[in-house]
Amino acid sequence: MNETVNGFEFTEENFPWHKIPKGVATVCDMSSNIGSRPINWDHFDVVYAGAQKNLGPTGSTVIIVKESLLNNADKDVPIMCDWTTFENSPGTYYNTPPVWCIYVMGANMSYQNQLGGIEKFDKDCEIRSKMLYDLVDSASDYYVCRVNKGFRSRVNAIFRIEGDLTLEDKFIKECEALKMVNVKGHPYNPGLRICMYNAMPIEGVVELCKFMRKFMEENPIKLPKLTYFDAYGVAETIRMSLWKAGAKFDDDRVTF
Ligand SMILES: Cc1ncc(COP(=O)(O)O)c(C=O)c1O
Repeated sequence: MNETVNGFEFTEENFPWHKIPKGVATVCDMSSNIGSRPINWDHFDVVYAGAQKNLGPTGSTVIIVKESLLNNADKDVPIMCDWTTFENSPGTYYNTPPVWCIYVMGANMSYQNQLGGIEKFDKDCEIRSKMLYDLVDSASDYYVCRVNKGFRSRVNAIFRIEGDLTLEDKFIKECEALKMVNVKGHPYNPGLRICMYNAMPIEGVVELCKFMRKFMEENPIKLPKLTYFDAYGVAETIRMSLWKAGAKFDDDRVTF
């Protein structure tokens, strides 16, 4: 439901459910947003999630499967990949489970429930992401987020300093000096990426936003000086493109 590299997220409201053919099982990777919003379980047949973002330590994976799909594995499915194997545990162990990871995840879930559970984390997630995207949008000539507003991830906000990409390295270094680490985008989608999983306190994003405002003031984007000839060249390029696209020029009017 959430894609960390490009920073978009489907919600159950905006996901195109009608595109899933009838009778086809719906399998969902919720690794990065499980625990951050309520789930309508009627929508899913299988949900899986690496625990490492919102739930617990890396090394454990949560798999939630409709009972009707158990005992149904193809004969070529290796025993350790057949969910029925685990469903039959602890009667039949085929391996030693990562007990420490599972234990810590359980303890963390209980802790999150004591703090207010899904309702609290859903609300926090909304506050954090709204605060950050509002700042980015209000400074859109500096910080540019190209993700469609209706699908922006609440847990991975991705933006760039498009006016001067060299400022991004400075941004990352200054963040590190303030102990705000890992704000660099994924190698497949360079830029800046702010991850705000359940463990991130709202205050962390408040501090980040303060830093971002200050950074913007201290590092204005230097616009290249445009000479008359540059401007004339740009205007001519646009005119040629329009002409090639079939535009007709009549005094100061352009028609197609
Ligand atoms: C939605 C989603 N699935 C899978 C993964 C992969 O997790 P791992 O880091 O264990 O490879 C990630 C990690 O970013 C993710 O966000």
